[in-house]
Amino acid sequence: MDKKKTVVLGVTGGIAVYKALDIVSRLKKKNIDVHVIMTNSACEFVNPLSFQSLSQNMVVNDMFTEPKQWEIQHISLAQKADLMLIAPATANIIGKIANGIADDMLSTTIMATKAPVIFAPAMNTNMFMNPIVQNNICKLKEYGYKFIQPDSGRLACGDIGKGKLRDTQIICEIIISMLHPVKDLRKKKVLVTAGPTIAPIDPVRYITNKSSGKMGYAIAEEARDRGAEVTLISGPTFLPKPFGVRFIDVKTNEEMLNKVLENFDDQHIIIKAAAVADYKPKTYSNNKIKKSDDTLNLELLKDKDILKTLGDKKNNQILVGFAAESNDLISNAEKKLEKKNLDYIVANDITSQDTGFATDDNKVTILTKKGKKIPMNKMSKRDVAKELFNLINLELRD
Ligand code: CTP
Repeated sequence: MDKKKTVVLGVTGGIAVYKALDIVSRLKKKNIDVHVIMTNSACEFVNPLSFQSLSQNMVVNDMFTEPKQWEIQHISLAQKADLMLIAPATANIIGKIANGIADDMLSTTIMATKAPVIFAPAMNTNMFMNPIVQNNICKLKEYGYKFIQPDSGRLACGDIGKGKLRDTQIICEIIISMLHPVKDLRKKKVLVTAGPTIAPIDPVRYITNKSSGKMGYAIAEEARDRGAEVTLISGPTFLPKPFGVRFIDVKTNEEMLNKVLENFDDQHIIIKAAAVADYKPKTYSNNKIKKSDDTLNLELLKDKDILKTLGDKKNNQILVGFAAESNDLISNAEKKLEKKNLDYIVANDITSQDTGFATDDNKVTILTKKGKKIPMNKMSKRDVAKELFNLINLELRD
């Protein structure tokens, strides 16, 4: 079990304070201990009780209102933190820290901590673009403080521009990634394919495979968090693009093949979790096909097997495939492992109701080219990704 991590969240006064509640909730769901420090102006926007209820820890506010604790509290939280996040961070807190001002609980804690400090600014766009604020940000970056850049859009004040607090899901992904205990894929390049591909019939119709992309995205995120340089080549999905990975979107088998080949040579590990369409219509109709007879025959042509192409081409790369099977799981997976010249294949039974397509869980067996068969319990797709990289790393060290 990984050691439980502690995040100290500094909340400063701006309209985006309410969004920080979602940050607390998301971090708590990841089993992170969250301690919130609010400035006095943050308390004007949202009652500390809301943060207290979500974090299940006392909210710290003014240095001088808690006589029993104030002397050491900024030191104890500063020491306790594995990471400090300031969200939303106003121009005021950025300016204070950049100029060495420590006059309340939050600013003294930021000054006293040795943990990484990340600011997620949110403010009016003119304020954010003000050279004074920008200079303060540059200065803090030089000291090693990190910034999660705000988004552009319509701000609470009605102006349009840069200054919206970055999406809370992305903020949390960045934080969780920074807290990740192992960085055993540092300096490794990992290419992942995910989602379905489509084979167009006419301008409005296409053939595709069932695939949410969740497994491939979980693999890309795990690799990123372990320090890898990740390229994710994805067919159409409804998932948000993961931060911090090079994202290439494709639609057809041919587009996926071309992008994979373009990126193949300098990769260390390639994982093909995509559900690639095996057949495409022999002819594509430029016009929408009109309905006429009761039956319509489509002639299909076998499309490229991308993974087999990679297996034939590979030299030192580690190649991992998936096998989606409805019967004879292990023997079918073994055949694919050999035929496609893979190092590993992750076999999953697609007939199971609560695992597999579109679910968050999966129950797989991993087969290795050395003949090992490793059955896994039902677990989250992220945990499957973890186990897969644990295995690859173990064998890399042999
Ligand atoms: N794959 C691929 N290109 C294809 C078909 C599959 O790269 N045209 C890859 C998938 O990404 C997966 C592996 O091959 O990693 C196995 O895919 P799967 O659909 O289980 O098997 P197929 O090889 O298509 O064989 P079948 O459909 O007959 O089971």
